[in-house]
Amino acid sequence: VPQAPAPAEPRDRPIGVFDSGVGGLTVLHELLVRLPQEDFVYLADTARFPYGPRTRAELERFSMQIAEELVRRRVKLLVVACNSAAAAALPALTQRMMQTTLGVDVIGVVRPGAIHAVAATHNGKVGLLATPATVASGAYREALQAADPHVGLTEVACPDLAQQIERATFDDEVLASVRDACAPLRAAQVDTVILGCTHYPLLRPMLQRTLGPDVTIVSSGAPLARSVEHVLGARGLATTRTTEGAYRFLTTGDPAPFADAGTRFLQLPLTSVDQVTLNPALEVVA
Ligand code: DGL
Repeated sequence: VPQAPAPAEPRDRPIGVFDSGVGGLTVLHELLVRLPQEDFVYLADTARFPYGPRTRAELERFSMQIAEELVRRRVKLLVVACNSAAAAALPALTQRMMQTTLGVDVIGVVRPGAIHAVAATHNGKVGLLATPATVASGAYREALQAADPHVGLTEVACPDLAQQIERATFDDEVLASVRDACAPLRAAQVDTVILGCTHYPLLRPMLQRTLGPDVTIVSSGAPLARSVEHVLGARGLATTRTTEGAYRFLTTGDPAPFADAGTRFLQLPLTSVDQVTLNPALEVVA
């Protein structure tokens, strides 16, 4: 596929965002709201969704392949919108990106959400709902510990919830899973719950009703968007444009169902979607 030449000025290049599929569009949504002048290119690895049951090695390999594709398209910053990928692969990915001559910064969803949760809790008891890969990585636990070693974390791995949300967001099956997932959090008397998966912001009303109105629900999109704003400012990479930026989509799967399902997650019109083939040769040096 012929590439449009990248703008010479790094400030004018797009921000690359990636996820395992449509879920990360809840994160892109926050970026589009917070940074309306920036251009974005969002890559969805829909062909390999879900990432939640994957191993760290797989998630590192997938993330490297996607990063390579986005860097080839001359993004000025790489955002890992997927919790499973960020939790498992961020250290390896950051190391790899620092080795590229372009020196692209990588920002992922775990740390901003964890810091926000530490700031929000009063009783020092935080809960996490996430995929098995994210819980197994220990990344949220580490990030919370780094922000405040006195804050305790109760983690609940939800094996099927993201897939259930994609099938039907608001049915009784999802509600039953939400009740099961929230039971240990209620028992632990957490006052703050991190939604550690891109799909869960769609369940916010259901979760708030199940957890009770006094529990603070933290999703990663908004704090991540603030981090992105900070890094653009610190690196002198914020666009100087004053007009609205553009956003477009790449998927490893079929573009039509991505566009159909995606609008619900993005809550904005979903414009051009192209299919992309990632470089299968790329392997990670662990
Ligand atoms: N984006 C993924 C995450 O946040 C959604 C779930 C999945 O791919 O399993 O973990």
